[in-house]
This record gives sequence, C-alpha cells and structure tokens, in this order.
Amino acid sequence: MSERYESGLGSWGSRWTFILAATGSAVGLGNIWKFPYMAGENGGAAFVAIYLLCLFLVGVPLLMAEVLLGRRGGQNPVGSMAKLTAAAGTSRAWIWTGRLGALAGFIILSFYSVVGGFSLAYVFNSAFGDFVGAGPEDVAAVFSAVQSSAVELTGWHTLFLVLVMIVSLRGINQGLEKSLRIIMPMLFILLAVLLWYAWEHGDFDQGLAFLFDFSAQKITWQASLDALGHAFFSLSLGMGVMMAYGAYMPKSASIGGAVVAIALLDTVVALSAGLIIFPIVFANGLDPTAGFGLMFNALPLALGNLPFGHFVGTLFFVLIALAAWSSAISILEPAVAWSQQRWRCSRTSAVVVVGCAAWLLGLGTVFSFNIWADATLLGANFFGWIDFVSSSLMLPIVGLLVAVFAGWKLDVASRREELAMRWAWAFSSWQWLLKYLVPVAVVAILAISAWGFVSALQNPFD
Ligand code: PFF
Ligand code: NA
Repeated sequence: MSERYESGLGSWGSRWTFILAATGSAVGLGNIWKFPYMAGENGGAAFVAIYLLCLFLVGVPLLMAEVLLGRRGGQNPVGSMAKLTAAAGTSRAWIWTGRLGALAGFIILSFYSVVGGFSLAYVFNSAFGDFVGAGPEDVAAVFSAVQSSAVELTGWHTLFLVLVMIVSLRGINQGLEKSLRIIMPMLFILLAVLLWYAWEHGDFDQGLAFLFDFSAQKITWQASLDALGHAFFSLSLGMGVMMAYGAYMPKSASIGGAVVAIALLDTVVALSAGLIIFPIVFANGLDPTAGFGLMFNALPLALGNLPFGHFVGTLFFVLIALAAWSSAISILEPAVAWSQQRWRCSRTSAVVVVGCAAWLLGLGTVFSFNIWADATLLGANFFGWIDFVSSSLMLPIVGLLVAVFAGWKLDVASRREELAMRWAWAFSSWQWLLKYLVPVAVVAILAISAWGFVSALQNPFD
C-alpha cells in the first residue's frame, strides 16, 4: 500500500470513486454511437443477446483481471507488470503487456479526440439550428462541411484534447474525481430526459421490438465476433486503463462488485441509447441499418422534424460529448502515470508531453477526412490503419496477455487475496472463464482480424 504513495501517483478519495471513474471510462462513444449502429446493421435483438453474453462471460472476467493486476501492482501499468513479473519469477517479457497497453491507449486517444471533436462541432451546429427542418441533403452538407475543412476539424480536435488535458493536469483527485462527479450525473440525467422524449415522440414499440424481440433471426459468425470485439472496446479493456485506475483503488473495495456494477451501467447506457435512437428513427420511417452515419445523419434529420427537436438534438450531442470526454480522460492516464514514474517528472509535464504528442498524431486522422483522404495503402488511409492496428490488433493482444498472466502466471494466493470473493464458486468460475474461455475468444477475434488483413494483402484493389 505505502508504495503507492511513495510512487507519487495518489489514490481515489473513496471506494466508490473507482466505480465512478471506471464507468466514466467505459461509457463512451462505444455505447451511444457504435452500439446502436452495430445492432442496427446486424438485425437487432440477436446481436444484442450475443453482445450481452460476450460482455458478461468474456468482458467481466477480463476486466476483473485487469483491475486485479493494477491494484496488486499499485503503479502505472508498466511498473505494475514489472513488479508482478518479478514477484512471480517469470520472464521479464511480460512487462510488454503494460507497454503495449499504454501505447495502444496513446494511439487510440489520438483519433478518439478527433471523433470527440466531431461531437463538439455537432453540439454547436445543432444549437445554432442547422438541423431545424433540414432535409437529407442539408444534414449531409453539415457532415461534409465539418469533415472537409482540415483547419476547422483541427480546431475541434484541439479544443477537445485541451478539455481533456485540463482535467488531467489537475491530478486524479482535484481533476478526474471532481469533474467526474459532475459529468457522470449529468450524463445519466440527459439520458433519462432523452429516453422520456423517445417514449413520447418516437415509435417506442417498434424500437423495443427491434432491440429485444429475436424470434426469427439468424445469428452469424461475423456478427458474433463483432459483438465480442465490441464488448472488449466497450469495457475499455486492453489499454492498461483499468490497470491504471485499479492502482488507485483502496484495498477495502471489492473488485468483483465494482466490476459487475460497471458492466451493468455500461449496458444500461448502451441499451438506453438504442431505445432513444431507434424509436426516433422508426417514427420518421428512416433506415435502422444506416451504419456509421446513424448518429451523425439519421438522428439530426429525424429530430429536425420532431417537436422541440432543436433543443433535444443539442442535448443529445452534449450527451455524446460528455461521454467521449470522460473516456478520453481515462485513455490518457496509463501513458501519463508511466511517464511520471519513468522520468520522475511532474504530472504537469507528463500531461503536456503526452497530450501534445497525441495531438500531433491526431492530425493524421484529421487529414484522413480531407487532404489525405485518398492517400491509401492496401485500401485503408492513415486513420483506417492506426484504427486497425490499435483496436483490432493491439487491444486483443494485450487482453490475451492479461488473461494468460493473471490466469496462469500469477500465484493463486495473490489472486484469491486480491479478489476476496465471498463465494468459492464465484472464484472458481472466474478462474475457469479467465483461463480457458477468454483466451479462446480473444484468439478468435485476432484470427479474424489477421484473416481480414491477409485477404486485404491478396486483393489490394477490392
Ligand atoms: N469504453 C469506451 C467506449 O465504449 O466508448 C471506449 C474506450 C475508452 C476504450 C477508454 C478504451 C479506453 F481505454
Ligand atoms: Na462502453
């Protein structure tokens, strides 16, 4: 314990703060933007059912493992892995789990910030009434105006990252903890208001049936793997974020309880987002399979023609920006905590250096929407590549390493002591899932990604 204070990283103010911060990390663009559109593309209820199975059978055990390693190590993800590796007497190569995680997080931050910038732009467009009474072409015009100007998009990306850095600079108690105490309740209130609105003004029955009535649907392998990958992303796994946050968790807090609470809240937000978007989409006779543009095109179009749509649309984009903000704050943490310990520098220098580097890398993503849009290698532009390498390759690899280390290398006594579970069956089920099901599932995601990569190499002009 005392080491945590010597390391200068600090500790959460109370046992609830970990749940608050980790929920802030989990609930993000993945819930509000990506989950509804993936469910829409994959036919609704069957996808939702598989997603929930993956979340609770693969995601939850792995999340417990990440938090456990973080709290046991008590340092930044790299430091924690170094310490645990030494204690377990295994190869020092395991330290790469921490390094790869922090690196993946850094890369993901660079483009998460650009999408966060998009949502900030939409808060303003929507507030200034650009979507009021708009037709499909008007809505599409707003989208292309935001993305086509490199300068404007850089501005939004910069603003978003500055907001993230301001919170992070103030440290985990004065910055993260204080801001999340405001951001998270606001997020849940907005969600409730919007749900009520969808109930009043949308086609709620059809939305409900679409998400939960899976009588005549078939389940495909591809949809299952997408669901699994998304469960991973949604719980912020594989980036060392939960390890870093776990290191600030008091020993008295229960890891199992916290993780189940986080997974439930993450699910509530994802399902609520679906129950907001689909009733509104159906009420306007729009297509639920609109994909990527479901949120940025279909929703503004639908709301532009509903009562109070101007106001509600603005609220919706504020909700998205808040969710993206609290997630981005968390993605910065592993690299910042690591730099702080590695170079014994102040938190301020660490945040400024890591933040500016992420900003610079993010410019590549900004340009991928405009001036570099056609600069492709094997069919993907800069953004496509770094998204693929970080989300589809690095995250599952780190997840696999975490599962194998926590399930096979770390001694059982440490596992048992750290989790301190009340029921023996809960502990043995967790161990079983972590040792067998999680690695098999993660290898399956990796194999599919690798297969996609190889077929892209063979047919570069597809
Ligand atoms: N869990 C976030 C979401 O669902 O949007 C995304 C995310 C945040 C992934 C932080 C990873 C991370 F470290
Ligand atoms: Na999520």
